[in-house]
Amino acid sequence: MSRQISITVLRQMKQASEKIACLTAYDASFARLQDEAGIDVILVGDSLGMVLQGADTTLSVRIADMIYHTRMVSAGCQRPLIITDMPFMSYATPAQALGNAARLVAEAGAHVVKLEGGESIAETAALIVEHGIPVCGHLGLTPQSIHQIGGYRLQGNTEKTAAQLRKDAQLLEQTGVSCLVLECVPSALAAEVSQSLSIPVIGIGAGSDCDGQVLVAHDMLGMTSRQPKFSKNFLEGKDSVLAAFKDYVRAVKDKSFPEAAHSYE
Ligand code: KIV
Repeated sequence: MSRQISITVLRQMKQASEKIACLTAYDASFARLQDEAGIDVILVGDSLGMVLQGADTTLSVRIADMIYHTRMVSAGCQRPLIITDMPFMSYATPAQALGNAARLVAEAGAHVVKLEGGESIAETAALIVEHGIPVCGHLGLTPQSIHQIGGYRLQGNTEKTAAQLRKDAQLLEQTGVSCLVLECVPSALAAEVSQSLSIPVIGIGAGSDCDGQVLVAHDMLGMTSRQPKFSKNFLEGKDSVLAAFKDYVRAVKDKSFPEAAHSYE
């Protein structure tokens, strides 16, 4: 329980078939409780634009916001690996991406930076990795492309888009990406991708066969106005936020979450 989680530990967990429990946190209080609950990975997600800032999308989040919130998360926890989202347009060019990734690590305390996209970000991801900063990929529903996607909906559900997702996942692994988030994709596709990669795959709305699970903490505490299909209120019937976080860790580790009702065919 006390080992500091690194990308090497995540790989060992995948090899040992131990599920990885991940939640978002944006401040020291949530980070401290999640650490105490046994969360392996904290994602400082740009979902903070919607959850904390009240925006309709993640597009208005700036690099300064991510630095500010990552710093607080980093101050609140010891054991979890901290992955921070690079926000919209903060990695539009490789040079800009490298500078911003370095700030998230050096100024804020992130261990890993997360970029959305496949082929389009491969060169940028490679440059960041070359400079010693681990990268997490993000495929499937990529909220920074919401206007192109046209809505928060299932991805990879046609032969063509599933083939593209498989290709992107392989390319990211070859590029040196350390782990991958898969959001809102059919369970069978997510299972296939997880099995075909040696890097850990953390799912959200991607079924139970990924190597780990991530939820937005405010969703799983029932604090957001609409509970997404793939989430569950873990605070219901508990007397504290800590108890809800502990129950989530238990449910991910013993594979009782997600159920079929939280997944897509
Ligand atoms: O920003 C975020 O919280 C995320 C998760 C939904 C995976 O990217």
